[in-house]
Amino acid sequence: MEYRGYDSAGIAVVGREECRAIKTKGKVSELEKNVYSQNISANLGIGHTRWATHGEPSVTNAHPHSNKEQTLFIIHNGIIENYSTLKNNLINEGYTFVSETDTEVLAHLIDYYLKLKNNLFQAVRYALNEVEGTYGLAVIYKEEPDKIIAARKGSPLVIGIGKNENFIASDVNALIVHTSQVVYLEDGEIAEIYKDHFHAKTIHDEEIIKEIHKVDMNVDEITKGGYPHYMLKEIMEQPDSIFNSMRGRLLYEEGISKLGGLQGYEDRIVRSQRIIISACGTSWHAGLVGEYMLEEYAGIPVEVEYASEFRYRHPIIRPEDTVIFISQSGETADTLASLKEAKKKGALCLGVCNVVGSSIARESNAGVYIHAGPEIGVASTKAFTSQLVVLSLITLLLARKKNLSLIEGQNIIREMQSLPEKVKKILESNDQIEKIADEYMSCRNFLYLGRGYNFPVALEGALKLKEISYIHAEGYPAAEMKHGPIALIDENMPVVFIATKDAVYDKVISNIEEVKARKGRILAIVNEDDDYIEKLVDHVIRVPKTINMLQPILSVIPLQLLAYHVAVKRGLNVDQPRNLAKSVTVE
Ligand code: F6R
Repeated sequence: MEYRGYDSAGIAVVGREECRAIKTKGKVSELEKNVYSQNISANLGIGHTRWATHGEPSVTNAHPHSNKEQTLFIIHNGIIENYSTLKNNLINEGYTFVSETDTEVLAHLIDYYLKLKNNLFQAVRYALNEVEGTYGLAVIYKEEPDKIIAARKGSPLVIGIGKNENFIASDVNALIVHTSQVVYLEDGEIAEIYKDHFHAKTIHDEEIIKEIHKVDMNVDEITKGGYPHYMLKEIMEQPDSIFNSMRGRLLYEEGISKLGGLQGYEDRIVRSQRIIISACGTSWHAGLVGEYMLEEYAGIPVEVEYASEFRYRHPIIRPEDTVIFISQSGETADTLASLKEAKKKGALCLGVCNVVGSSIARESNAGVYIHAGPEIGVASTKAFTSQLVVLSLITLLLARKKNLSLIEGQNIIREMQSLPEKVKKILESNDQIEKIADEYMSCRNFLYLGRGYNFPVALEGALKLKEISYIHAEGYPAAEMKHGPIALIDENMPVVFIATKDAVYDKVISNIEEVKARKGRILAIVNEDDDYIEKLVDHVIRVPKTINMLQPILSVIPLQLLAYHVAVKRGLNVDQPRNLAKSVTVE
């Protein structure tokens, strides 16, 4: 689970003879050393790797947190919003606090009810009824050493069903080495898990029957498979992940796509007055490409919103709108909250997610999985290209149901089917890109410029570089450069142009000339047959040509590799960049 947060880590165990927590600052490998140097014997335990919200990364703030007697331990993802009220009440009851975290409040609150109820399940349940905020949590207790209590609201929690052993995790990825049978807890549910059975209730004490799901994933998908980093493996996997995103979904004869997850909703989507796309980060960039595609081919007005803004700014959402939520993890708190808001207002809500069974996928009315396979590197790569494939599939479906001709539909399909081979070709430039990275690795700023479909690619290229190499990079629409950023350009400012041959190609060339006239260093992503731009710029990386709407799927790949190599050359941990977490389950 470390990719979800890695500033401190800890475990707690209870058994007949043992009841204690071990915690360290830093990565799980630090914790591992600490744990293996001690002799621990217990039959059950919980572990956590933290991404700090309340309180700096430290041993004291690391989870598990406990009651004063160190007999009860809790791990928690999410945020307790009313923690200061709860904390003051508990201080009035005589409780003292050692950490700066919101989670410690839960440890003492459960302890308070445990003393009243003498039953862990009920104590957790009573405590959670007082909590405002989000949680995916697990609790163990010395006096009931045969069970883990797990509960969920807003932060994912999955139970893994094994043979004479059971598990809990906040992501199925962590379970598949042990079992493929899983149970997803829903918001407001609490479970009591023993080694050979479990049962669940709502936090209002109503009995519920949980369904067991089979997860279709194998262990190879979550290993590095011989690559030095997950990020490189995931970049290199793109011919397959792109293929998997469209497998079985293209009907050439009819020139249309078939998306099982949208069945029954197609007509309503086609009739939408407006499509809104809500997402964060890289997924938001995919949404921007989606806007260009959907408006061009399906002729439906599209707005793309940062989920974090959308959820709080009183957006006008009508029942005849369709809102698409794009999220690799399917757990991003802001995207999930904006989905709940749009649902409340009666819009049709579609999820475009990677993680099967994730919260956004389950909360949506309908949706399409991108099937990119597990993405573990914190910087999103293959999920982005698969999101674009799925947005192309949705565009094709809607466009064909509106005005697009059979011939045009078939042309899109042919171009989509040729993407995996084209991606393979781009990946052959890896060595060339690594050499280019040598020349740019010491730069302190970068500008990424593109127009039309390549503008979101510029944003994505800049995000990739800044998040893993810590070099400041900005993406801009190329023509906007002259309204401000051009002032930055001198011989020390590298500018990456995404300059493939599309309707605005000539205009981009003018922008390249403008940078060149000011002595900027230029790296350009160009099409294979382009022999003009290379005469103007310092370096070119070539990508095959495809139709404009699909070009971002190809143009972004050299930028992923560039960011990767620059970060590696700077000696940085590309899979776990500082301050980041893979799935941002806090707002
Ligand atoms: C950047 C990156 C993030 C995520 C963002 C949304 O490489 O990975 O910007 O795209 O946190 O995450 P999801 O797609 O899981 O909702």
